[in-house]
Amino acid sequence: MLSSLIDPAGRSISYLRVSVTDRCDMRCVYCMAESMRFLPREDVLSFEELLRLSQVFVRQGVRRLRITGGEPLVRRDIGPFFETLGQWLQRPEQAGKLDELTLTTNGSLLDVYAETLFKAGVRRVNVSLDTLNEDRFAQITRRGKLAATLNGIKAARAAGLAVRINTVAMAGVNEDEFDPLLAWCGSVGADLCLIETMPMGDTGTDRTASYLPLSKVKIDLAQRWTLTPVPDRTGGPARYMRVAETGQRIGFITPMSHNFCGSCNRVRLSCTGRLYTCLGQEDGIDLRDIMRSGGDDAAILAGIQDAIARKPTGHDFLLGQEAGVVNGPARHMSVTGG
Ligand code: GTP
Ligand code: 5AD
Ligand code: SF4
Repeated sequence: MLSSLIDPAGRSISYLRVSVTDRCDMRCVYCMAESMRFLPREDVLSFEELLRLSQVFVRQGVRRLRITGGEPLVRRDIGPFFETLGQWLQRPEQAGKLDELTLTTNGSLLDVYAETLFKAGVRRVNVSLDTLNEDRFAQITRRGKLAATLNGIKAARAAGLAVRINTVAMAGVNEDEFDPLLAWCGSVGADLCLIETMPMGDTGTDRTASYLPLSKVKIDLAQRWTLTPVPDRTGGPARYMRVAETGQRIGFITPMSHNFCGSCNRVRLSCTGRLYTCLGQEDGIDLRDIMRSGGDDAAILAGIQDAIARKPTGHDFLLGQEAGVVNGPARHMSVTGG
């Protein structure tokens, strides 16, 4: 079934990112403030509410779900949640079949959940890892332990999950590590994806100073690695190259220097049930309100359709005169999970 959710620019919405919590056991400098105030629990969608809203999207032709956070694996009912969604991978087409169920995680609890995820039908996971240096990892994540994330990645590979490492590229912070990270990814059989920092929410750090345009990084890497473009299979923002020396891929996500909004296939559901039609914009609709005031699935769908009819043509992140990053939305990345 093709998605019936099509925006006025003709973009078909076949992919939903579902944030299941705003909480996290880390406080990455580009994502959260040091002292974050998390949402009261009653504001966050329950297990049943998350399933109900996801169901409405999938019945309209959304075929891929990516579970995000905060850190999705800190949610207590996350195991059963994946097991339930995994059953949708087996459904007949007309009943709202899913093609893919994935997640983005910081890896700290992956060793606990890797096998559950694989059994549920997850086949690939994206794991955030910005450095292989223990002290640097502690500085960037403010709370994380490198060993826990590396353990998680090992467990994911052992359970049969494909892994893509997400590395936010930061000038003066980890730009000297792209070569070692690429080599290390080769050694564990993972792809690497470099990401330009996006200015979302106040995190107490100057992301303008650390903005690094990836076009330059790609040219630099190509002097030492044999990179050949490969087509993207998922319709997502990453543009991939094969790395001949490792056999793995390297991806580049460049929202700041080259936006990919024209081919956007996605919308995002926050953990409070707000639907955001663009990561970099505030526009959306509160589906929790509709649901908690007794609205039926038809009312929820009408809300979704209204919001998609207003989907912005692109995000509003702007680059300053000196290629610095300015002007993102006030909400934190952890609210919508990227
Ligand atoms: P797939 O497309 O499922 O392969 O994954 P992904 O790359 O979208 O997922 P992931 O959660 O790993 O996100 C990687 C980075 O891409 C994060 O920094 C996200 O914020 C960013 N990202 C994902 N979707 C969008 C989008 O629609 N717009 C922008 N600007 N950034 C996005
Ligand atoms: N800019 C770019 N990427 C970010 N992420 C979190 N905050 C930002 C930001 N401000 C990344 C994380 C994770 C993914 C969901 O988004 O590293 O891999
Ligand atoms: Fe937590 Fe991920 Fe945000 Fe880091 S980027 S603070 S791991 S939600």
